[in-house]
Amino acid sequence: MITPKLDLPIGVFDSGVGGLTVLRALYDMLPQESYLYLGDTARVPYGIKSPETITRYAEQAASTLIKRGIKLLVVACNTVTAVCLKHLQEVYVDLPIIGVVEPGAKAAVRASVTGHIAVIGTEATVNAQSYQRAIRQLRNDTNIIAQSCGLLVALAEEGWTDDTIAEATVRRYLEPILHSPANGAVDCLVLGCTHYPAFLPVIKNVVGDRMHIVDSAKTTAEMTAELMQLKNLAIEKDQADLPRMNFLVTDSPLRFSRTAKQFLGWEIPDSSITMIDFH
Ligand code: DGL
Repeated sequence: MITPKLDLPIGVFDSGVGGLTVLRALYDMLPQESYLYLGDTARVPYGIKSPETITRYAEQAASTLIKRGIKLLVVACNTVTAVCLKHLQEVYVDLPIIGVVEPGAKAAVRASVTGHIAVIGTEATVNAQSYQRAIRQLRNDTNIIAQSCGLLVALAEEGWTDDTIAEATVRRYLEPILHSPANGAVDCLVLGCTHYPAFLPVIKNVVGDRMHIVDSAKTTAEMTAELMQLKNLAIEKDQADLPRMNFLVTDSPLRFSRTAKQFLGWEIPDSSITMIDFH
């Protein structure tokens, strides 16, 4: 007998298309589940905004998803996770909420041998220092270099992720890491923004094979699966009806679906994207 809650989708939220990298990993791990994704495309980017504004936007997004009915929320945005995950968990105390920083830190510590780890993210993520804290909690002898890469979110939303502009921009941002005194020892680069995996081939080109490049998508999916088991929220494969994947956006669905394909790997049918307003 399935309790009604199991039938609800998993809520996933980001400022734009970046969280689709996490949605993809969730879907790969839990294909029997349904998903409701919210991209706050009218207000992207979040990463250059103040913690107060980011927190206000995050509350609006979370309560919109909660009103529509979700059984668990994945904050697929490093910026929101870094700035206000704890706050969201305190406000929506009945809902299991998982962020992407702790899983990213876990992946980094798994990948690094030397303990010299570089993290790239938005300005707000870097300023919040939450990667630094999360990594040091898992391994306290680490040396962490953090670098914000403001333009990459705009390039990703534009779909310019694999051309000469993308490469020059990535090269410019990674310069301080590549020329840091610890450069030779840095063996892990954390993509601390869910938009950045779209630049993976370009980033690999720039750093060569001297660093493991990790993002939090897969580890977030693993931790979500564990949490769902713990809270008895997981649907078993043979209990699942037809899983649904629906999308909410706060600006033009057309623009969202155009870029989304690059992140998700498949075309989103128009009928599953709804434009909403928070007010
Ligand atoms: N994709 C988000 C992150 O992981 C947000 C980027 C932004 O809106 O600035 O940080």
